[in-house]
Amino acid sequence: DMIKNKLADNNLDYSLVILTTSATKFDASVFSTDELKYVKDELKNKKNLVAVNQYDRMVYVCLLENKSKDQSLYMESCRKAGHQVTALLNKTKAKSVLIEARGLRQEALCFTEGLALTNYQFRKYKTSGDNNSLEIIALHSNKLTDKDLLWLNTIVEATCKARDLVNEPVNYLTATQLSNEMVKLGKQAGIKVTVLNKKDIEKTGMGGLLAVNKGSQDPPTFTIMEYKPAGHKNKKPFVLVGKGVVYDTGGLSLKPTANSMDYMKCDMGGAAAVGCAIYALAKAKIPLHVVALIPATDNRPGENASVPGDVIKMYSGKTVEVLNTDAEGRMILADALHHAKKYHPALVMEFSTLTGAASSALGKYACAFLTTADQNQNNALKKSAAHVYERVVEFPMWEEYGELIKSDVADIKNVGGPAAGMITAAKFLEHFIDYPYMHFDIAGTAFVHAEDSYRGKGGTGFGVRLITEFLKNKI
Ligand code: BES
Ligand code: MN
Ligand code: ZN
Repeated sequence: DMIKNKLADNNLDYSLVILTTSATKFDASVFSTDELKYVKDELKNKKNLVAVNQYDRMVYVCLLENKSKDQSLYMESCRKAGHQVTALLNKTKAKSVLIEARGLRQEALCFTEGLALTNYQFRKYKTSGDNNSLEIIALHSNKLTDKDLLWLNTIVEATCKARDLVNEPVNYLTATQLSNEMVKLGKQAGIKVTVLNKKDIEKTGMGGLLAVNKGSQDPPTFTIMEYKPAGHKNKKPFVLVGKGVVYDTGGLSLKPTANSMDYMKCDMGGAAAVGCAIYALAKAKIPLHVVALIPATDNRPGENASVPGDVIKMYSGKTVEVLNTDAEGRMILADALHHAKKYHPALVMEFSTLTGAASSALGKYACAFLTTADQNQNNALKKSAAHVYERVVEFPMWEEYGELIKSDVADIKNVGGPAAGMITAAKFLEHFIDYPYMHFDIAGTAFVHAEDSYRGKGGTGFGVRLITEFLKNKI
């Protein structure tokens, strides 16, 4: 674990961070009279981060204040403070940091979460340059338990793993490799993982997944992860579903390269979120029965690719007229959602980089949330979203939007026209469910094009913290 509750006794080379919620009252025993006067003056001058160079080490005093009285905004400001400090630590080539957070719990957890998530780098393919210097984080507070630290370590690790998967290009992360990665995660955490290969998928009759895969040289996979610990508290399982399009060229409805196809390695961000979320739940031994389903393929315009006008018989038996091969996510998700029925789930939560419409409507700041679950569940979900600051904005699933996907020749068509694309996509998926369902369109949040505080640049791991926070509260 990267985050411990103290530094090793022989570790004398570290930077110290003192967290405080008061500009006047904090543990100042490490400062000389002059230093303390300087720190207090700076804090009085509305500085919230004061650095003191003590020659043998750097000390940072970080003042956390709840400016708006909104708990969600306050927690986020603590994460952002952690982000600020990480930059300073790496600039001074610090290898270890001790965070003194006496009397603080939520602030300490958020600050350290922001700090640790900021320290993430994807350097697998770099052959020169340096890694961040920071390697060891110690968080010290009388208000924190071992369980708090285990949870913090677990969600940070799982979020970073999801980022890794999103940042991997398709020339490494094929559908087969994505399923291999899930097998690895399963082994590490004690999750049963079953991978259906192309033959299995054909035998099962997953027509949507096979139709998207037709233009590809690489076979599809369908990964089933099941975590069912002894003494689990839920009778019916929670099922997670994630879109695993390892690369989306658009197929024959080809995307343009710039600012479109060029980042479509991110189109398995939903798969990464659900796979890493179930990994975290198992690692933290949360006593819940949870299943994750990941349909995976690339979407390519190969010789035998699906064409606009094709009619596909889906796993559920329903027929779909494919009018745009770039609306591929819903084709593979429909088969996974149909498969989920056999678990008689309490709730299905599905995460997908599904539509440009969701991204246009909300940008990188929130995902689109569409739901058939009851008010209690939806409220609990929104509370969790505010807690982890992976915000959701609910869009309606009104019947009228369903009329936009009626087909002349099949049961439904896979595109609904220019209006409300994130809603018509959800209405399409609704045809394949018979259980309470939450749909998260993370097209705008899974991948960011410029550094965004502790979310970094590239894959964000969006969804991991939301899913795990929401499900943890079920016990
Ligand atoms: N993978 C894309 C959606 C996407 C857009 C993800 C931006 C991440 C960032 C999806 O498969 C797609 O192409 N959607 C189309 C659907 C349309 C053809 C109905 C879209 O939104 O344009
Ligand atoms: Mn597409
Ligand atoms: Zn896609």
